[in-house]
Order: sequence, then C-alpha cells, then structure tokens
Amino acid sequence: MSPATSLQQAYDRAAYPLTGHRARNLQVLKDALSEWEDHQDSDIYGSGPLIEDFQAKMATFLGKETAVFFPSGTMAQQIAMRIWSDQLGVKRVAYHPLCHLEIHEEDGLKKLHGIEAVLLADKERVITLEDVRSMKEEIACLLIELPQREIGGQLPDYEELVAISRYCRDKGIKIHLDGARLLEVLPYYQKTAAEVCALFDSVYLSFYKGIGGIAGAILAGDEAFTKESKVWKRRHGGDLISLYPYIVSADYYFEQRKDQFPKYCEDAKELARYYNECRFFATRPVEPVSNMFHVHVQMPKEKLEPLLLSVYEATGVALTHYLRDDHNGAGCYFEVSIGDRYAQVPKESLKQAFHILMNELI
Ligand SMILES: Cc1ncc(COP(=O)(O)O)c(C=O)c1O
Repeated sequence: MSPATSLQQAYDRAAYPLTGHRARNLQVLKDALSEWEDHQDSDIYGSGPLIEDFQAKMATFLGKETAVFFPSGTMAQQIAMRIWSDQLGVKRVAYHPLCHLEIHEEDGLKKLHGIEAVLLADKERVITLEDVRSMKEEIACLLIELPQREIGGQLPDYEELVAISRYCRDKGIKIHLDGARLLEVLPYYQKTAAEVCALFDSVYLSFYKGIGGIAGAILAGDEAFTKESKVWKRRHGGDLISLYPYIVSADYYFEQRKDQFPKYCEDAKELARYYNECRFFATRPVEPVSNMFHVHVQMPKEKLEPLLLSVYEATGVALTHYLRDDHNGAGCYFEVSIGDRYAQVPKESLKQAFHILMNELI
C-alpha cells in the first residue's frame, strides 16, 4: 500500500483508531436491520407502530409526556424555539454564543422564523445563573446545550442547572435542552435522563453522536408541545413517508450503547491523562466531564501532522483524523469523542504511541 498522504487517510487505514465507535459505512444500517423481519411494515408519514412505539419508548426514557422523531436536530430545535416563541408572543430566545443554532445553522432561526437570539456568557465558558439573571431582554426560551461541545464539552454544576431552571420557571421563561449528547453527561451528574430532563420544558436528543446511529433526533415535551411540533415537522418537509432506516438504527444502537456511557467517560479521562503528560499538549477540560474533550497543541498543524503520521505508522494507533488551527493562530486543536473503539486498542500500543509522542517533543 502506498504511504498515507493525509491524516484522514492514515486514520482510516490505521489498525487502532482511537475515537468513535466504528467506520460510518452501510454495515451500520445492515446490522440494525438484521434484527427485523422482512415483512415489517414501514412507518408512513409519522404514523404506524414502528415510529409510534419508539416515540413512546423515548418519551418514557426522557420522563416526558410525549416525543416526536425528527430527521435532524437542526429541524427539531428550530421548531421548538418557534413553538415557545409563538406561545409566549416573544420572538427572542437566548443561548450560548457557540451553540449549534448560532454557528452551524446558517441563521435558520432568524431567516425561517424571524426569531432573534440573545447570546449569553462569553465563548470560553458555560452559561451561569448570573448570565441569565442579568439579561436585559425579554425572551421566550433559554436553550442550554449539555455538554457545551465547542468548548470541549464543559458542563455547569448540577446545582447551577437546577437554579437556572428554577429561575426560568419563576419568570415564565421556557427552558429547552439541547441534549444532542445527553447520555454522555449522565455519568458525571449521576442522574437519570428523566431527572435531568425534568429541569427542562422541552428536550432534544440525537441518535448519531454517542449512540452511533445513522441520523435522527427525538424532540420531547408535553402533549400540546409535541402535537404542534408535528405540524411544523410537516411544514418543514420533515415528515418523510418512511423514516424507518433512521428509527431502526436509532433503536438498535440506543439499546446497544445506552449503558456504556460510564465506561466511555472513564476511558476519556484516561486518554486525557496521556495527552496532558505530553509537552505542548493540553486537554480542555483538563479532566473530561463527559466522553469528549478537546486537545490543544502549542504547535502549528504543519509541524504536528508529520509527527502524528509517524506515530500512526509505527504503532497502528491513530489519535485524530484532522487538525484545526487554534483561534489565536499559533497552535492547533482537535476533538476527541470516546466510543467502542477505545477499548479495542491494546494498552501496550497506546502506551507506545504516547511514548513516541513524548520523546519527539522533549
Ligand atoms: C450540540 C448539537 N446540537 C444540535 C445538532 C444538530 O443535529 P443534526 O445534525 O441532527 O441537525 C448538533 C449536530 O452536530 C450538535 O452537535
């Protein structure tokens, strides 16, 4: 085989990629479908046992009255913001400056729904009660993302979260959870999903992040809220005639992985310790509070990349498939998200990989 020319190529070829669960290929769907009979009826435009049973199961898991399956979190959350804004008659919501709606959705909330956003906290930290209290503007809804992905998956303390929820409810402000990675934070909080969700009026959970399905999301809340969300789902073209490939894979990998998150989180802490022992490397947070963290390296990516390639070549252990320039321009960083793969890496190979890295960086 010709030598790998890019980090992505080397990562894909490596015997032991460290992050995620497995390759994203068609086998992911084939495995999920293998549990079902060929004559199983499809869901049709949001109806039928296949979708309704799964929605009911997820509503119970999240401790909410009802739940609706969506093709994407982007669609589900904009709709949630629209419903709360209409209900309170206030076209304004608040969230973190680095949340998904603000930086990855091309202004969908504003362009599609005419909803303005108040940005709380600064980019480097999570939202506090004080940020919410000192907000001048009237808002319909506060959206909290747990964990705050773009800052390494940081989390507020549980007490702070409870206080924010209580404050919002006292003031008549709706509170929504961007729980794309909700299962990932439960070990840190030592709470059930339903206990965390009880602090929120509406909740979204993704099926293709820690759970590792193909795509899809659930939006949960009370009956009136989810009923309205189905109307908006239809308006958005999200009511596909058949959503079953997403539902089947969501259910299959939810069952397979829902109890694995404490292990992923412990593995993340172990891996972060390895990184923090290397000169020029620092993880954010220093000790991860979920299965994810960011690795910041005080070295330009052009200098780090050949070093990483040599580590992958020598040990088969691949640390990351990409490097991104740091905001200050001097160094670079990448995200780590721990799944099934980490436990399959021989400890000796892992130690050897970090040994090489450390020696090269003295
Ligand atoms: C925190 C968070 N919220 C929402 C989304 C949107 O999910 P989807 O890709 O299903 O639209 C993502 C996707 O990466 C996310 O990370």
